[in-house]
Amino acid sequence: MNDYSNAPQPDALLAVAQTTAAAAGQIIRQNFYQPHQISSKGFRDLVTDTDIAAQAAITAAIRHTWPDHGFLTEEEDSALPTSGPIIWVIDPLDGTTNFSRGLPEVCVSIAAMRFPAASRPEIVAAAIYDPLRDELFSAAHGQGAHLRTGDGVIRPLHVSAIHTPGETLLTHDWSHVPIHRQQGLDCINQLAHTVFGIRCVGTAALALAWIAAGRTDAYLNFSLKPWDVAAAALLLAEAGGQLTMTTGAPLLWDVKGMSCIGSNGRVHRLLLDIVTKYTSSPTDK
Ligand code: IPD
Ligand code: CA
Ligand code: CA
Repeated sequence: MNDYSNAPQPDALLAVAQTTAAAAGQIIRQNFYQPHQISSKGFRDLVTDTDIAAQAAITAAIRHTWPDHGFLTEEEDSALPTSGPIIWVIDPLDGTTNFSRGLPEVCVSIAAMRFPAASRPEIVAAAIYDPLRDELFSAAHGQGAHLRTGDGVIRPLHVSAIHTPGETLLTHDWSHVPIHRQQGLDCINQLAHTVFGIRCVGTAALALAWIAAGRTDAYLNFSLKPWDVAAAALLLAEAGGQLTMTTGAPLLWDVKGMSCIGSNGRVHRLLLDIVTKYTSSPTDK
C-alpha cells in the first residue's frame, strides 16, 4: 500500500508540474522546425525523438526533487519506479502526429495523482503547457485553475456559460482503433446536425484545456489513455467543467483505453444522451 503520510502539499506539486511542463515545452519549441526521427509504435501511433527527450527531461527533474515518487508515462521507460506516495502521469508531447507533420497544435501534460487503496484516485496538481503559444494551464486541487500567458499575466479559468447543444462548439479526435473510429463516425453523423460547430485539434489534453478556458464547450474521444486526460480532468473540475466516461460514469483509469467526454458541465448530460443513443457499438465501460 502507498504511504501518503509524507506526500508533498499540492502547492509544491503544482510548482514542479508547472516548471517541468515549461522545460519540456522548451524542448518541443526548439525542435519544432528541425527534422524529426519518427518511428511507429503501433497502428496509427507515432513517436519522435522529441517525445523521448521531453519525457526524459520531465522525469529526471521530478526524480531529482522526489526520488520516492512513481510514474505512469506514455513512453516506456523501465528505469522509472511505478509506485510511491505520488504517481506522476505524463504525456511529454500530446499531439505527436501534429508535431511530426509540422502542425502547430501540441502540448505537454503532467498530473500528480494519488491512488488511495480504499477510494477513487485523486489528481492533486496538473499542468498543460502549449509551447507554441506559451500558454500554461494549471490547477491544484481545491485552488482553482489558472492560465499563465507569455506576458506573465495569470488569469483564473472558467468554463463557458453555453447550455444548449445548438450553441456548443465541440472538439473531437478520430481514434486510431477502427471500432472506436466507427463510434466517432456514428456520433458525429448525428452531432454534426445538432451542435454549432466541430473542430479536430489532434491533442486531447489541449482540447480539454480549452474547455476549461471557455474557448470550446465539449470534447469527445473514444480511445484515450490516462496520460491524455489526467491533467485535464483536474483543470476541468477546478474550472467548473466535467470529464466522464462516455457512459456518464466517473473516469476509470485504464491504460488499455478510455472512452471519454469532457464538457463545461452544462451541456454534458444533453450531449451524453446523443452519444449513447447514436453509438452503434457499445461504448467502453
Ligand atoms: C493522441 C492525441 C490525439 C488523440 C489520441 C491520442 P499522442 O496522443 O491526444 O488527440 O486523438 O487518442 O493518442 O499520441 O499525440 O500523445
Ligand atoms: Ca497523448
Ligand atoms: Ca504523447
